Amino acid sequence: MKKETIHPAKALTGTLELPGDKSISHRYAMLAALAEGASELRHFAAARDCHSTLGCMKSLGADVKVDGSTVKITGRGLRGLKSSWRTLDAENSGTTIRLLSGILSGQDFTTRITGDASLQKRPMKRVVTPLLQMGAEIQARDGNFPPLEIRGGHLHGIHYDMPMASAQVKSAVLLAGLYASGETLVTEPAKTRDHSELALELFGARVEKRGRTVAIQGMADGPGKGALQPKSLDVPGDISSAVFFIAAASLLPESNLFIANVGLNPTRSAILDFFQAMGASLTVLNLQSAQGELVGDLSVKGAPLKGGHIFGELVPLLIDELPMLAALGPFTEEGIEIRDAAELRLKESDRIAALAENLRKMGAKVEELPDGLRVEGRHSGRVHGAEIAPRGDHRIAMAFAVAGLAAEGDTVIHDADCAAVSYPQFFDELRRLAGA
Ligand code: S3P
Repeated sequence: MKKETIHPAKALTGTLELPGDKSISHRYAMLAALAEGASELRHFAAARDCHSTLGCMKSLGADVKVDGSTVKITGRGLRGLKSSWRTLDAENSGTTIRLLSGILSGQDFTTRITGDASLQKRPMKRVVTPLLQMGAEIQARDGNFPPLEIRGGHLHGIHYDMPMASAQVKSAVLLAGLYASGETLVTEPAKTRDHSELALELFGARVEKRGRTVAIQGMADGPGKGALQPKSLDVPGDISSAVFFIAAASLLPESNLFIANVGLNPTRSAILDFFQAMGASLTVLNLQSAQGELVGDLSVKGAPLKGGHIFGELVPLLIDELPMLAALGPFTEEGIEIRDAAELRLKESDRIAALAENLRKMGAKVEELPDGLRVEGRHSGRVHGAEIAPRGDHRIAMAFAVAGLAAEGDTVIHDADCAAVSYPQFFDELRRLAGA
């Protein structure tokens, strides 16, 4: 397992081209495999997670060709998937297994799907519950964990009032809704990313937003029968990957960083407002709409950060950015406090525990709470380099690499190759821009 040593740096300077957005790439890949004909997805995510999705779609009979960051997928229609004799492997990807569960619930065959040791510990009941209500038959280990055995049924539309704010659960129900009779509705308790709604609409599904409720019409069979159309699409750069560089450039006083082509969907961009509220020197340039998604460029310069509190409805909007924000805590004036975020314990690792452990190794003062953590700011003393154990979690590895740039002395990130789950080039890009 690879180690990366991070030396302190003074600035992050230059231009960064991000990999394609992970969330959007998963959705485009799945919908292209269900469409009738050949789709071309350019600037597809380099993330290993999205390649797990491509592997699963291939095993289900879609024709998938990868040429660098361009992916060509030929789908054979909503009823064109084939049963896989092999157990599908979602590897580390929660989005793959949860969204695909929705699609598999609509197939007239049985599929087994599992993942790596981390994924096998992540809860699946949240998608199993609504999919059972729609008519699928699903067996999960201990009723909650992968492997899942999904026997697709004749689904019927439901109105699902989600008990938690989760884009993955919402998306699983909407994808199953393509196969259900009548209308399927999902109401979310707080706003989450809406890439599924936008992508479904783009590929020709009948989707309607009504406040916090999304409705989709079944179109695989029966009176509403129709087809998804293949598309030629460009995936915007991943804002959740950009965040590590926004944080690093803000922390290092002499930075001057330009980040090109960042996805700025409003259900993902709350992080930019949060950085601006903390005092970051962050400007959005060239904002434009691209096939339903917003994109723009960012200019970031070094600036002292105030810190802040994250709680309530902000949590689902910043969910993947919380590791980076927590790791920034000791460099801010007032520190960072995160509450209402018990979900963080159910991600690729227990992120609350991983953050508290590694922040303490760097000498930060941290209070671990059941639903978050409190990280003291600059007044509690300078932090120093340490040996970081990311627990196989890409966002923990990347967050502490950034903290290492501003700490005293060197920081060693163990098991650093886990960053490839979302950003295979992360360490090369960080070294290049930090001039190290
Ligand atoms: C994702 C939704 C979020 C997020 C994950 C990607 C998605 O998960 O943390 O990285 O693409 O729908 P939850 O829906 O579990 O909050």
